[in-house]
Amino acid sequence: MVVAVLALFATAAMAAVYNVVDYGARAGGGVDSAGAFLAAWAAACGDDGGGDRTPPVMRVPAGNFLVGQAYFRGPCRSAGGVVVAIDDGAVIVAPPAVANTSWIMFHYAHRLAIRGGTLDGNGHSFWSCKSSTKTPHCPPGTTTLDISQSNNVSIKRLTLLNSKNVHVSIFDCTNVTLRGVRITAPADSPNTDGIRVALSRGVTILAATVRTGDDCVTIGPGTAGVVVRGIRCGPGHGISIGSLGGGAGEGEVRDVTVEDASLADTQNGVRIKTWAKPFAGRVSDVRFARVAMHGVENPIVIDQNYCPGNINCPNQMSGVKISDVVYEDITGTSATAVAVRLDCSGSNPCTGITLRNINLTYDDGGGEEVARSFCRNAAGSASGVVSPPSCL
Ligand SMILES: *[C@@H]1O[C@H](CO)[C@@H](O)[C@H](O)[C@H]1NC(C)=O
Ligand SMILES: *[C@@H]1O[C@H](CO)[C@@H](O)[C@H](O)[C@H]1NC(C)=O
Ligand SMILES: *[C@@H]1O[C@H](CO)[C@@H](O)[C@H](O)[C@H]1NC(C)=O
Ligand SMILES: *[C@@H]1O[C@H](CO)[C@@H](O)[C@H](O)[C@H]1NC(C)=O
Repeated sequence: MVVAVLALFATAAMAAVYNVVDYGARAGGGVDSAGAFLAAWAAACGDDGGGDRTPPVMRVPAGNFLVGQAYFRGPCRSAGGVVVAIDDGAVIVAPPAVANTSWIMFHYAHRLAIRGGTLDGNGHSFWSCKSSTKTPHCPPGTTTLDISQSNNVSIKRLTLLNSKNVHVSIFDCTNVTLRGVRITAPADSPNTDGIRVALSRGVTILAATVRTGDDCVTIGPGTAGVVVRGIRCGPGHGISIGSLGGGAGEGEVRDVTVEDASLADTQNGVRIKTWAKPFAGRVSDVRFARVAMHGVENPIVIDQNYCPGNINCPNQMSGVKISDVVYEDITGTSATAVAVRLDCSGSNPCTGITLRNINLTYDDGGGEEVARSFCRNAAGSASGVVSPPSCL
């Protein structure tokens, strides 16, 4: 009797679990389990949660699962969303070539929660294709995890490895939190950005560890309300707003905070980058605080003269206006003499730049050299200890 009552309670509170193995997924053996994953998703997504808000669970148990392209589409029926629970011993592996720009896609998946597990983009043969001059026709680069048009998303403890392109893309979303995400790809892997955010608002990235061949985090047009806190970045190209202003009609970037970050052996530290092209754009209300740099080539950098290969942009000025950017409590070592570079647009000078408590030293490996600042078309103020001395 007591047991029956307890069982009833447990059933009421417990979510329905849709295990991919029950839908035909096979660990090991190289069988493509994409169909089984999609069937488990369809079942979880079609479950209304039984009237309460307990979200149905799509579960991936331990094991290596080969999964071809998987497009998980919402919206789902449960008001509580869907939980994708990936066991810690579960690795979802991409085939060497994926015929799309994204591999694992969640679109219109409101209240999605992803917990644990590893997504292995299996990018090695794709990278060798790209770096080989003998094979010019490589398949398209593929984003590993593409979350688009989805609101109230939470991702925790997910590991991403060796993407063929961007590891995580957050596009056209509202209220997304990523906590404890780990991303690893070789320092020389091409275009393997860690987390790319664009056209989104309310994106919070907490305690991420990103070691990759491109930007650790990159923030694109049309984005507001981004917080990046407690990130460890490197190797990689650092934390970047941009590139912006490469085309017409881009939305502004505003209200971005990067704090308690540590960057080691990266190409850039905290960067804002715009094309040397006249397209209008705007970056405002940005705060970089409590950032530790170790051997970073360009610790603090605004570059509004981005024009790779000097093609289609020499001698043009950026139409992007940058204002109200605070750099506070930024310390450590620069791997080049110019530790602070504020190189703004001649037609749209930077305004409201604040430097406060900056202590960056230049360590060239031999005798201590002196770090320098470089300013062009940049206005603002400096306070506290600012070393190298401010050029504002
Ligand atoms: C690529 O993914 C999209 C979903 O965003 C899908 O509509 C399209 O059919 C896919 N293309 C191929 C070639 O698989
Ligand atoms: C953001 O999404 C989370 C679920 O991931 C939800 O609990 C929270 O209420 C949402 N916050 C807002 C402001 O919408
Ligand atoms: C997101 O969460 C907030 C707060 O719980 C809620 O008001 C809003 O409707 C949610 N949006 C979606 C699309 O679920
Ligand atoms: C700046 O950093 C260097 C190296 O860590 C240190 O020796 C120096 O005391 C610091 N200066 C200030 C004013 O904090």
